[in-house]
Amino acid sequence: MVCLVTGSSRGLGKATALAFGRNGHQVVVHYRDNKTEAEAVASIINEAIALKADVRYPDDIKTLVDTVIKKWGRIDVLVNNAGITRESLLVKTSVQDFDEIINTNLKGPFNLTRAVSRYMMKQKSGHIINISSYAGVKGKEGLSVYSASKAGLIALTKTAAREFGRYNIMVNAVLPGYMLTDMGIGSGEKAKELALQDNLVKEYSNPDNVAEFICYLAGTTGITGQVFNLDSRIL
Ligand SMILES: NC(=O)c1ccc[n+]([C@@H]2O[C@H](COP(=O)([O-])OP(=O)(O)OC[C@H]3O[C@@H](n4cnc5c(N)ncnc54)[C@H](OP(=O)(O)O)[C@@H]3O)[C@@H](O)[C@H]2O)c1
Repeated sequence: MVCLVTGSSRGLGKATALAFGRNGHQVVVHYRDNKTEAEAVASIINEAIALKADVRYPDDIKTLVDTVIKKWGRIDVLVNNAGITRESLLVKTSVQDFDEIINTNLKGPFNLTRAVSRYMMKQKSGHIINISSYAGVKGKEGLSVYSASKAGLIALTKTAAREFGRYNIMVNAVLPGYMLTDMGIGSGEKAKELALQDNLVKEYSNPDNVAEFICYLAGTTGITGQVFNLDSRIL
């Protein structure tokens, strides 16, 4: 399968790209800034290319998808993983931060879904897996826009699943638990502590385990429109 994992220069995206690679798939290692890291990930996968694109911009995404189609002629799996967060109370959140978070976390997956679904519809097959978050279901103090973007992504997942089911395109969302990636570490000590407080097994989420789940899901048939919670806090 040809698998495009957005934001796979580091964190969960990197673990997911490597998991697809280990399972013998062709992988697009996508990044925005970290070319060296993305190329390093691609270099340890048997068949992979590292490609740059900013998910916020439809023209960037069109070029990215055109390049993949030129190389492999198809796209079987899209994992909408690239994301950002910025912590601030709603009352102090700037309109610029609102735009940046929504454009990355929600418009980005929209741009990618639109671009790849044309090819998946022709293929009459495909998997789109959107990485949402516990915050998108429960809300989180200090993360109003992030939570809203992730809630929007769940609604996008369900709607796309309804529209694409007839083309045999599966669309699902995965909620990882709190992971000690750059994003998780960058959120600070207080956030890390709180994440463990409600966690039933008092463990952070392991990106490699989440990645294996994503890989497994991409290999299933007939499962669509679902939200898979891998966070051991009760929803
Ligand atoms: N960490 C957690 O605890 C946690 C929990 C639940 C859900 N999630 C979700 O899981 C996903 C991955 O998180 P992570 O912790 O692995 O994040 P991370 O380590 O901060 O990595 C973010 C990735 O997204 C890319 N990216 C950011 N903005 C982009 C843009 N405008 N265009 C293209 N690529 C962009 C980055 O590319 P560059 O390296 O090139 O900058 C990087 O590869 C995110 O959607 C996040 O919301 C994370």
